[in-house]
Amino acid sequence: MNECKVIIMGFGAVGQGVANAISLKKDMIKQEHNVEVKVVAAADSSSSAICADGLDEQLLVSVKNDNGSLASYPEYGSDVCGIDVLDSVEYDCLIEATPTNIEDGEPALSLTLKAFEEGKDVVTSNKGHLALFFKDVVSAAEKNNVQFRYEATVGGAMPIINFVKDTLSSCKISSIEGILNGTTNYILSRMTSEGSSYKDILHESQELGIAETDPTQDVEGIDAACKTVILANSLLGIDATYSDVDVEGISNITSQAIELAKKDGYLIKLIAEVSPDNLKVSPRLVKQGSSYDVNGTLNMATVHTDLAGDVTVVGLGAGSLETASAMLTDLISILKNKY
Ligand code: HSE
Repeated sequence: MNECKVIIMGFGAVGQGVANAISLKKDMIKQEHNVEVKVVAAADSSSSAICADGLDEQLLVSVKNDNGSLASYPEYGSDVCGIDVLDSVEYDCLIEATPTNIEDGEPALSLTLKAFEEGKDVVTSNKGHLALFFKDVVSAAEKNNVQFRYEATVGGAMPIINFVKDTLSSCKISSIEGILNGTTNYILSRMTSEGSSYKDILHESQELGIAETDPTQDVEGIDAACKTVILANSLLGIDATYSDVDVEGISNITSQAIELAKKDGYLIKLIAEVSPDNLKVSPRLVKQGSSYDVNGTLNMATVHTDLAGDVTVVGLGAGSLETASAMLTDLISILKNKY
């Protein structure tokens, strides 16, 4: 039996989702892939639990929820945090789930580059460092000959990056457009069905664990803009960065505007457009009953290809276990390539 030791950096909704997903699927991974996945460290911004023999994933989640910290994990809790965690224990793969930071991409950038330099594979859900430095980060992985996967950065559980790279690999992609933020889709859907204000519903989104740590990233379109950059680079080969995206969020959308649109058979959705001459996130009117008419935390994307025509994908774009499902799939792909 092979062994894969993982460190989970970031232990909010996504990091905890990964711990839960590993707990649920580790027997399946053993049986189907002959690999024992062990969580040897989990860390949030001020604490960690570290044990070379492996930690109990369920206990990590309950300690964090009961105490707000991992320091009280029995025997192995500590206040080691940040990049020091990577020096505290042997590991094979870094699962990077720290909050997105669009100012300088930290701490994801330093954690990821350090892992690459040490020859470790990385799975990330973090959008900040990729939206700012996509080319540099991907080149660093190639230079160090390690695997780097980032399906969870766009669309949560909606398959898009690996799907296009693998399943549509015969096709050239000319453009993509879609709904790439679950929180704003949830808010706009609820405003449409109930006429409530976005501020009331934003609070609910935070409680559901779908909003970013800083929810202005969702409502101001920043999160969708990061995803636009990641799709542009990874699927269209456009050398773009965050400042290349024209961004407008939903904070000025009123219940009255939604009501007027509804009467004419339209919905207001936050739409991302990805093409060589247009990188844009903005609220747009779309027809009721069209492929954009998906509600709640669903995301969708239509991929325009040369050979396959238009291909539309839909899936849950946010949520703890949903996002973790994409990260665990990435981890399994790494294991399949390795063993
Ligand atoms: N806050 C993000 C969203 C999470 O609502 O889509 C998934 O990237």
